[in-house]
Amino acid sequence: MITLERGEPVKKRRVLVVGSGGREHALAWKLSQSPELERLFVAPGNAGTEPWNVPIPAQDIAALVQFALQEAIDLTLVGPEDPLSLGIVDAFQEAGLRIFGPTKAAAQLEGSKAFAKTIMENANIPTAACEVFEDPQQAKTYIRTLGAPCVLKADGLAAGKGVIVALDLETALQGVDEIMDGNFGAAGKKLLVEEFLEGQEVSLLCFTDGVTARPMVPVQDHKRALDGDKGLNTGGMGTYSPPPIWNAELEERVMGDLVNPTLKVMSEHGTPFQGVLFMGLMLTKEGPKLLEYNVRFGDPETQVVMKRLDSDLLSVLWACTEGRLSEIKLAWKDEVAVCVVMAAPGYPSAYPKGLPIRLPETVGEDAVIFHAGTQIKNGSLESSGGRVLGVTAAGETLRQAREKAYALVEAVGFPEAHFRRDIGLKGLEPKSVNN
Ligand code: AMP
Ligand code: GLY
Repeated sequence: MITLERGEPVKKRRVLVVGSGGREHALAWKLSQSPELERLFVAPGNAGTEPWNVPIPAQDIAALVQFALQEAIDLTLVGPEDPLSLGIVDAFQEAGLRIFGPTKAAAQLEGSKAFAKTIMENANIPTAACEVFEDPQQAKTYIRTLGAPCVLKADGLAAGKGVIVALDLETALQGVDEIMDGNFGAAGKKLLVEEFLEGQEVSLLCFTDGVTARPMVPVQDHKRALDGDKGLNTGGMGTYSPPPIWNAELEERVMGDLVNPTLKVMSEHGTPFQGVLFMGLMLTKEGPKLLEYNVRFGDPETQVVMKRLDSDLLSVLWACTEGRLSEIKLAWKDEVAVCVVMAAPGYPSAYPKGLPIRLPETVGEDAVIFHAGTQIKNGSLESSGGRVLGVTAAGETLRQAREKAYALVEAVGFPEAHFRRDIGLKGLEPKSVNN
């Protein structure tokens, strides 16, 4: 046991991170710096988390519970949404294990868009007007009266592909069939037709113990595959923080009018929410409106958030699981961080795996290369997924952070990589709600 300067003994914890993406590498990287950490495990992890990896898939809840009991894990942190929607938190709690994240019932905020809309309505949260349909003909009749542009969403989890932003009527009508004719399975049984909102998007992630919420630093993601927000929607091609369009007044409004009412209604509904509440916001001319909730850390939002977090992540997570978040004040680095995702060629459509990658010997000051879809095969580093690396750098200004991140991207030996060249550029444009 080590001792702090104040003379208090530091409790050492054994921590398990579930997942294998860039988000999980960033979380593990930050946790590995904690003075409270005894030992870290990542299941199943990637090449970046190699020293901590345990070969258990993130969806194998029974095996994860067994591992946590066997290894006397003090705290488990879940990265992806699937295990949360499958009830990993309930299973751990039933086994008497401490876990950070929402229960299966609370995870419906992301798992069912219709459930999310009900909570938004009950909490009186500003959001896009919306109708839910189970019959494609009724949906089409409604769309014809509403006109374009409009937004179609599959109710359930669809790996980020269940949303169609239809700029014309034909695309909207075709979209109904695409979502409802079986391509999305159970996720497409219900269809939401939503008002189209215009503005800049901001991701605001909050730690919460169910009663108190603490916002993390705001982030802007780049969801489309190509420069200029063109091409297909992806899991996220890059992030930066903070976006200059954000300010303290906006934050106060979002916490007061959107986040806190959500927590209150979730508690009243019998599904209190503990974990990360991720608010996908659209900053419209009428003010911030909620596009969606996620019930977990974002990817690649987490890469820049962890880069900027000054506080000890482990003690924050611990406080959330004990309902003591109100005692914690978060500290952030006064810097701008940028993360550029290097993806496999073709992502988010079909892409090859097993492409060789060579990392530079040094990454430079204030930079980290987070791994996502990587593995070590026969002693060599290669790609194993769509999003492969998250090249992350910080600087005093957005311009500096971008320069550092892109210089590091050039130094990575991954010649076929697909990446966007305009991550963070929006933050250098003149401020406006609608640019
Ligand atoms: P979601 O999965 O709900 O976040 O939707 C994915 C993306 O679709 C969002 O990040 C937005 O870019 C876009 N989107 C979703 N809902 C709307 C809306 N009501 N108006 C405009 N764009 C939207
Ligand atoms: N980057 C968006 C998400 O994690 O859902």
